[in-house]
Amino acid sequence: MNALQAEAAVTFKGISKVFFSKTGATPVIGDLNLDIGEGEFFSLLGPSGCGKTTALRMIAGFEHPSGGELLLGGHPVKGIPPHKRDVNIVFQSYALFPHMDVYDNIEYGLRRKGVARLERRRRVEEVLDLVQLRDLSKRRPAALSGGQQQRVALARALVNRPRVLLLDEPLAALDAKLRATMQTELRRIQQEVGITFVFVTHDQHEAFAMSDRIAILNAGRLEQVGSPADLYHRPASRFVADFVGHSNFFTGLVSTRGDRSFIGIADGEFIWLPATGAQGGSAVLVRPENIELMLRDGVDRHGDPQGDLCRVKATVIERQFLGSHHCIKARTGSGEIVTCEARAAHPGIVPGIEIWVTWHPDQSTTIPDQPGVSTSLEMEKQS
Ligand SMILES: Nc1ncnc2c1ncn2[C@@H]1O[C@H](COP(=O)(O)OP(=O)(O)OP(=O)(O)O)[C@@H](O)[C@H]1O
Ligand SMILES: [Mg+2]
Repeated sequence: MNALQAEAAVTFKGISKVFFSKTGATPVIGDLNLDIGEGEFFSLLGPSGCGKTTALRMIAGFEHPSGGELLLGGHPVKGIPPHKRDVNIVFQSYALFPHMDVYDNIEYGLRRKGVARLERRRRVEEVLDLVQLRDLSKRRPAALSGGQQQRVALARALVNRPRVLLLDEPLAALDAKLRATMQTELRRIQQEVGITFVFVTHDQHEAFAMSDRIAILNAGRLEQVGSPADLYHRPASRFVADFVGHSNFFTGLVSTRGDRSFIGIADGEFIWLPATGAQGGSAVLVRPENIELMLRDGVDRHGDPQGDLCRVKATVIERQFLGSHHCIKARTGSGEIVTCEARAAHPGIVPGIEIWVTWHPDQSTTIPDQPGVSTSLEMEKQS
């Protein structure tokens, strides 16, 4: 048993889940193996329908695995009902009691557990401070904003001091600005209380903003688990690369010249692979911010790209000013549309102009070529 397993707050051991109905069996999760460490802010991230809520409901005890074993704090939880598991769940809908004020909503769970009056008061006041709602403790939910209601729901779960707090898209109903504020708040609160948070979202930015680690699910399968930086810089699959930020992909057969490997696109166009480049068929991912645009008309002050840069030809077809950057679209020789986000105005880069798309080989990431992978490219110029 390694250190992580010894400390895991939640362990999925070969978990599968199949829903049965009159119309047949629907497999939703297959062979999920995952350790969520004690005190981690851990996110389950993936597109709609990939099984995030189902995974969360299995931790809470509202759904039962069809196969495999689920452990909390190293102990199997099979047969333990939801209210006896040391976990609490915060739903997207908040589910506050409308006829109770903020204080009573938060206190309710402690009353039901028979916690003594003075202790109840101490704990409610503690979480009211934590979520910064002490001034509103006598208000009813209807007189609160969405963000305030969200904080009451959070306080109501935290007051029970669960070992694990489960959050199912709790910020989805909030507007973009409030959501960003609540992300910072959630992270602060999680760090203050040190409880393991398992946060479900389909929003990459939300997961990145808060999480220590993220598991990416795709159709009930675990694609990759790692820190946001791992997922961004070392995606294990095309799916992860596409899901996490903008991705630029090139595919082709790997050739070698001397001690260097490259994918040849067309005459004069090379994608040099990192020193440990793949063999056979390969897909190269380049993040938009690592790409530089250069003019090809011979008067560009940069001149021709250096021979050690990766370079692909493209022709500009469209540009838009989007406030923080310019969005430039171009077409490669193979007909793929390239999207560029340039911080600088690049007045010379206008529709009809031929450009080089370039980047340093160290900034390529090779991932195994997968069926259905097409050559597409988006790029961003930062200068
Ligand atoms: N009780 C059920 N019976 C049959 N199928 C179900 C049941 N609950 C969920 N499913 C199916 O299981 C799959 C996963 O559902 P789940 O709610 O876990 O997805 P999700 O990742 O949370 O999606 P979303 O981001 O839309 O909330 C979906 O295809 C869904 O239709
Ligand atoms: Mg869901």
